[in-house]
Order: sequence, then C-alpha cells, then structure tokens
Amino acid sequence: MSGSDTDRHGGEEGSRVVVVGKGGVGKSTVTALLCRLLARRGEAVVAVDADEQMNLGAALGFASEELAKVTPLALDAGYVEEKTGARPGEGAGAMLRLNPDVADVVERLALPGPDGVRLLVMGSVQRAGGGCLCPENSLLAATVRSMRLRRHEVVVMDTHAGVEHFGRAVARGFDQAVVMVDPTFNGVQVGARTARLAADLGITSLHLVVNRVRRAGDLERALDYLGRADAAGALDFSSVRELPYDEKALDGEPSVAGLLGESALGDAVGRLAHDLVAGLAADRDGDASCAP
Ligand SMILES: Nc1ncnc2c1ncn2[C@@H]1O[C@H](COP(=O)(O)OP(=O)(O)O)[C@@H](O)[C@H]1O
Ligand SMILES: [Mg+2]
Repeated sequence: MSGSDTDRHGGEEGSRVVVVGKGGVGKSTVTALLCRLLARRGEAVVAVDADEQMNLGAALGFASEELAKVTPLALDAGYVEEKTGARPGEGAGAMLRLNPDVADVVERLALPGPDGVRLLVMGSVQRAGGGCLCPENSLLAATVRSMRLRRHEVVVMDTHAGVEHFGRAVARGFDQAVVMVDPTFNGVQVGARTARLAADLGITSLHLVVNRVRRAGDLERALDYLGRADAAGALDFSSVRELPYDEKALDGEPSVAGLLGESALGDAVGRLAHDLVAGLAADRDGDASCAP
C-alpha cells in the first residue's frame, strides 16, 4: 500500500475527497454539509465545485451577492491562458502546458465563506471519455494535485456525476471517494459503476453512502442491488453507512445551514466526516509507527 507516486498524501498530510453518484442523489447537500462540519472540527477546508450547475456555493450557505463575485476557474480565460498557454475551449491543438504551476489558485480564486470554508468553482469542465487535453481539464488536474495539504487540510470536490469525465489525471489527485447512492436500483447501478471507475483510477479509499433512507430495509435493499451490480464482489468499501431522509433538507433550501445544529441528516454526515479524517489520523499514526 505504499511507495507509489499515487500513494495517498504522497508524504503530505490531509486528504482530497471526491463525492460521486447519480444526479439528484444528494451529492451537493452532503458535500456542503461535510465541508461545514469538517471546518467546525478544525480542518482547513477547500470546497471544489466541479459541477457545471455550480450550486455548491448556495448549498454551503454563501449569500447570493457573495456568489456573484466568484470567477469560475474554467471561465477565467486570462488565468487559464496564463497557466496553460491556451484559452478555454482551444483543445489539444494548442500548445498546452500539461503541468501548469497553480500553487496560487486557492489564494487567487477561492472565496472564503461560512465556517471559513473556501470555495473554488471550476465552471464548465469539458467532458471526454478518457479525460480530454483541453486547458480547463489540464488546469483542474494540476489544481487538485498541487494543493499542498498541510495537517488538517481537506479538499472536498462535488461533481456532476463522477470521475469518469475527468479521467486519470484528475482522479489521481484524490485519495478518498464518497460514493453516494439512494435505495433505488438505478441509483445503486450508477454508484457501482462510478465506484469501479474510481477504484480503477487509483482512488484507494471508497466510502459507500446510502442516502434518503426512510424505513427499515432500505439499506439492505441498496446492498442487495449492489450485490447484483457487483456480482464479482470486486468493490471493496472502506465504510458503508446510511443517511436518513430528513425533511429539514428541504426547509432550508438551497443552504444546508439549518442542518448543522440538531438534525438527523447533519448528525449522520458528522459521523461520515469523522470517518474521513479518522482515516487520516490512523495513517499519521501508521506512518509514525512505521518509522525505523
Ligand atoms: N437525506 C435527505 N433527505 C431529504 N432530502 C434530501 C436528502 N439529501 C438530499 N436531499 C434533497 O434532494 C435534492 C437533491 O439533492 P442534491 O444534493 O442537489 O443532489 P445532487 O447534487 O446529487 O444532484 C435536494 O432538494 C436536497 O435538499
Ligand atoms: Mg449537485
């Protein structure tokens, strides 16, 4: 489990988490809750919105006047060109710096918000099966990989559906994936496919989250669908948990702020947040105990 350059953290502290799953399954809600709760636990959180719907900021509870100030990275033609040598949409024909230096990306483009969560909006990212060589994608890959993770720094990326659009270059930057499903056949099918891709792309820690659980048996049903989708049993989840259906999610739309106090959903996502960073603590201890 150690020694390769895709190894988690690569000697750094912190973690990069990508949230994947079928549309409507609750990715943005859970990403926003995770970010706010991790920040309240003392982590320095960068929330990356890689869905072209760009609704993570509103879910995080940013005011709309604040969000109006956001420059999506992919639409910042000057920044994209400065960093990659090509303008957005120019494609692989242009001379492209494949490893742009984006050490300043968070400072330049991220917007600080509630609980100190910094929001980085990617804007429209080109979709291409194997991950295209367009400058926006090249920049996204470099951004994810270059965020220096100090102790207690966590990057959480919300996606349109999964990592398949981004390809290996972007996915390699993540060490954990939260695979979200709901207790429906389709939701689980999409989740299983996405989880397999994430694993193939080298994401080592997969967390299965069954959202919108309303009654006893929902979790079991989802796991049964998963067994059918993954008959070979190839998927190896580090954790499996359910999140309850919570009316409060609808009351506060689009912000998750109302779920942060006492709420069944907020409490359950808090336990997921704990798992995501508890793994880090274990790794740190593991690293220390492996020292000669
Ligand atoms: N556990 C839950 N209980 C009730 N409603 C939920 C829950 N999770 C998400 N929702 C609601 O479902 C809708 C879709 O969620 P969203 O996070 O936007 O999904 P996605 O980002 O995957 O498309 C939103 O209206 C959200 O408030
Ligand atoms: Mg969403």
